[in-house]
Amino acid sequence: MIERVLAIETSCDDTSVAIVDRSGFVHSVVAASQDLEHEMYGGIVPEIAARNHSIALIPLIEEAFKKANMSWNDIHGIAVTNRPGLIGALIVGLVTAKSLSQAKHIPFLGINHLEGHLLAPFLKDAQHTPPEDFDYPYVGLAISGGHTSLYHITGLGEYHVLGTTKDDAAGECFDKFAKMAGLGFPGGVKVDQLAKTGNPEAYEFPRSMIHDDTFDMSFSGLKSSGQRMLEQLGPERVKENLPDLCASFQEAIVDVLIAKLDKAAKFYKAKRIILTGGVSANSRLRARAEDLAKRKNLRLVIPPIRYCTDNAAMIGYVGALRMARGETSAIDLGPSPQALA
Ligand code: KG4
Ligand code: ZN
Repeated sequence: MIERVLAIETSCDDTSVAIVDRSGFVHSVVAASQDLEHEMYGGIVPEIAARNHSIALIPLIEEAFKKANMSWNDIHGIAVTNRPGLIGALIVGLVTAKSLSQAKHIPFLGINHLEGHLLAPFLKDAQHTPPEDFDYPYVGLAISGGHTSLYHITGLGEYHVLGTTKDDAAGECFDKFAKMAGLGFPGGVKVDQLAKTGNPEAYEFPRSMIHDDTFDMSFSGLKSSGQRMLEQLGPERVKENLPDLCASFQEAIVDVLIAKLDKAAKFYKAKRIILTGGVSANSRLRARAEDLAKRKNLRLVIPPIRYCTDNAAMIGYVGALRMARGETSAIDLGPSPQALA
């Protein structure tokens, strides 16, 4: 029986390895961030990401074992992200997982990265336990640099896409605005910090599709509007007004996300809602989601930040559950750009 897996996540620019039980207990999760290497290019460079994964991965596997005080004897399978993501980056993780699976005579399974994000609220460790009453079904908002989608989740493998961004992801929108305002990359967290002392009503930004009949979203108009605003003001005035600009821009994104989450929760008569993905670290979004949950009597679960951003623990949890059901991948499994259908 599969009780514990080693998990590998290399879909984007973070290399991460974890050892996770089928119960969701995380024995260890370790990661190497490449933010500094990509910052000078103002965005993620796929070839650099793949090269860094190939350097970091094996030492991280050793570190994950050391931290958990375990060896290969304690591992029953290997879970690895094989979709969606940067193809070169995915290949590094996938080929490593296949090789280890062959060498150690244990099965491996390719995992959908988004499924990992959606089940991250179940993860637990020595510092963190999810609320006891947290279970399926729930409405989930997955928001990151690459994805912004709403799901109704009714069980393992049952993810019903309600709506998605028609263009840019919310995280990408945060990052582009931050870059244009001279705040570096990835800039979401800097916008969040500056916004804390700013006035969210100081500048007017569009909230596309907020009142339409669907659960879909759009952020490209907001991105262009942000660019125009920064150009009109010029570098000096932008610098002087950064807190107000960040607070106003952030509020436009958060208004749309909260409106769609509220609408989905109402439509599905949900009792539980979750936020997941890197953008769920945003303090304003968290506060507004908590307020929504209180007003509508919903159970809100946001995983700790270490499980919101890209990490191998969430991949390991999905892997352990699926492998316990008998699922394994064939040795000719390839990487894929496919998101959750
Ligand atoms: O899930 P994640 O770590 O990687 C992807 O799969 O994209 O998400 C990264 C995204 C980036 O766009 C980053 O700017 C954004 O999450 N982010 C934030 C905050 N922290 C991270 N956006 C807004 N406020 C934050 N505090
Ligand atoms: Zn992600």
